[in-house]
Amino acid sequence: MPNSVSSLKDIRGKKVLLRLDLNVPVRDGKVADDFRIKKSIPTIELLRSLGAKIIIISHCEGKESTTLKPAFEYFLEKKFDISFVESYVDEKTVEIVNALPEGGMVLFENLRIYAGEKENDSVFAKSLADLADIYVNEAFSASHRAHASIVGIPKYLPSYMGMLFESEIEHLSKTFSPPKPFLFILGGAKFDTKIPLIKKFLEIADFIFVGGALANNFFRDLGYPVGASVVSEGDFGLKEMFSSGKIILPIDVVVKNKETISIKNPKDIKDGDIMIDAGVETLMKLKEIVGASKYVLWNGPLGNFEIGFKEGTLELAKIISENTAESVVGGADTLAAIASLDLEDKFGFVSSGGGAMLDFLANGTLPGIEALK
Ligand code: 3PG
Repeated sequence: MPNSVSSLKDIRGKKVLLRLDLNVPVRDGKVADDFRIKKSIPTIELLRSLGAKIIIISHCEGKESTTLKPAFEYFLEKKFDISFVESYVDEKTVEIVNALPEGGMVLFENLRIYAGEKENDSVFAKSLADLADIYVNEAFSASHRAHASIVGIPKYLPSYMGMLFESEIEHLSKTFSPPKPFLFILGGAKFDTKIPLIKKFLEIADFIFVGGALANNFFRDLGYPVGASVVSEGDFGLKEMFSSGKIILPIDVVVKNKETISIKNPKDIKDGDIMIDAGVETLMKLKEIVGASKYVLWNGPLGNFEIGFKEGTLELAKIISENTAESVVGGADTLAAIASLDLEDKFGFVSSGGGAMLDFLANGTLPGIEALK
């Protein structure tokens, strides 16, 4: 494990470069979901209580916003003593940072306005590191990216992980030797990232429920018709995985064909049919399996969230939250479902990571974790 921010003591007046993940949903110029920000506040409070001068850096790359101004407004509304710097690779920045009071905060504009961030350019990384005495990574959810602010800066500064970062590692690591029976539920569409996960968890989990567009590929490879449903090209050895007996697929699916919506057995899909959500029987079956499990790991929606087919995912969120099984959940759409039902506190652990959670589960580490060691 990397060193934790909670081990820091005499840092009064020291400048801390705090990498957050403020890449959050924004609507009409306002933060629309503050889950990630809220989760990083304990680390901010700790650094403030120790009298550090806090320089916050983050990226954002949402459809609605390429500026961190909405996050800045959010901090202002929460009464933080914070200022905003739009451009920060010049002399003036040093003055701004030096003038910070103890416990004061400054937020720098989106790191990705500089090409050096994604390119992990060492000059860019060093120019940021030179502004501070200590680096803290509280952006677990961005730590699958080998970018300058994640893997470059720690080369030049004493480096620590934030409290949320630490908690992510602790909770997600538990999935490698969980209480049994262990049910893994995987939905969504990112085939390339998710297939290695299914392979890995076939060795650990007792059951793997595959939903969302991922299931369509299994149906195709098992010889079922898939109509016009989303499938990924290529042979992923799914038949062999299925023969393990651990993989469970939807037993009924919501189907869209032009303007008609119906529920079908996956074997009865016709030309032009698009499978877009899990059906009622599938959810009843999931309820049974969740009830029989001691540990549930869930990532990814069961339906096409983007075009509004949310029912299966929302129902699954309720099923897991009402059950006594220990649960770990994550992924952007999964989180959106949980937040819309106000169920965030009803799960054992809600990961702030999307891609980072998947990469950590697949590899047991992330570039950002290795960089802190
Ligand atoms: C995320 O939202 O998963 C992280 O902030 C990483 O964002 P990225 O996919 O734009 O690198």
